[in-house]
Amino acid sequence: MAARIIDGTALAGRLREATRQEVQALRARGVAPGLAVVIVGDDPASRVYVRNKIKSCEAAGIASTLIELPATTDEATLLARVAALNADRAVHGILVQLPLPAHVDAGRIIEAIAPAKDVDGFHVASSGALMTGLPGFVPCTPAGVMAMLDDAQVPLSGSRAVIIGRSNIVGKPLAMLLLQSDATVTICHSRTRDLAAITREADILVAAIGRANFVTADMVKPGACVIDVGINRLPDGKLAGDVDFNAVAQVAGWITPVPGGVGPMTIAMLLANTLKAARKP
Ligand code: GUN
Repeated sequence: MAARIIDGTALAGRLREATRQEVQALRARGVAPGLAVVIVGDDPASRVYVRNKIKSCEAAGIASTLIELPATTDEATLLARVAALNADRAVHGILVQLPLPAHVDAGRIIEAIAPAKDVDGFHVASSGALMTGLPGFVPCTPAGVMAMLDDAQVPLSGSRAVIIGRSNIVGKPLAMLLLQSDATVTICHSRTRDLAAITREADILVAAIGRANFVTADMVKPGACVIDVGINRLPDGKLAGDVDFNAVAQVAGWITPVPGGVGPMTIAMLLANTLKAARKP
């Protein structure tokens, strides 16, 4: 069996176009959505991600402000910058790119962002809302995964979903979203015993580990939907996901590629969250 490929680039393009049109309509009513992106230090991967976010904002008609701070920036300075952005009425969304340098407490910075501007959905107010089913900002990558499952019409209710990875950015919020869609959810991690026995039960298998080609064909139930959140840089410079794509595609029912899968969806959801923040009174 050859899996259907869920094309994240195509779906993200459609979603970004829908957002662009809604941004135009909002602008016509006198509200210009604005996103501030803060980057501290010069981690090359973070710089690429941030550049893509800014470019996508521009294409969608969202005004973006890039705040670049040196790696030596102390916590108090960063907190003051966040406070200024909280008070800035032209800024509807604030994104502080992670990771932050080790001398800065990232949790404290995230908690300083006004929840109404938390377009990353990382604030405890956002994660608490997600946990309890209240409205709020959903983290972009899990929201993108759910949009892909929806678009591909993958049945969720009553299904068994297995997520490998327990991060606050992907694994935990995605578990809540899948649970809300009536899946039976298991979160696995580096200490999970007999991982393959669990993944082989999954109708939906999500890999968010950060290890190239970690998920092999023998770990996948025939016909399962395999979502690859990983973006790993190989020694030859190429990108690889957490899933051994060519082999798993022979077993799975659906699969997402890397690149061109979940990655583009993350940015599309960031734009949608920024639009949502700008719409709030
Ligand atoms: N670093 C890696 N992914 C993300 C993300 O989605 N948001 C932020 N702020 N930092 C990240």
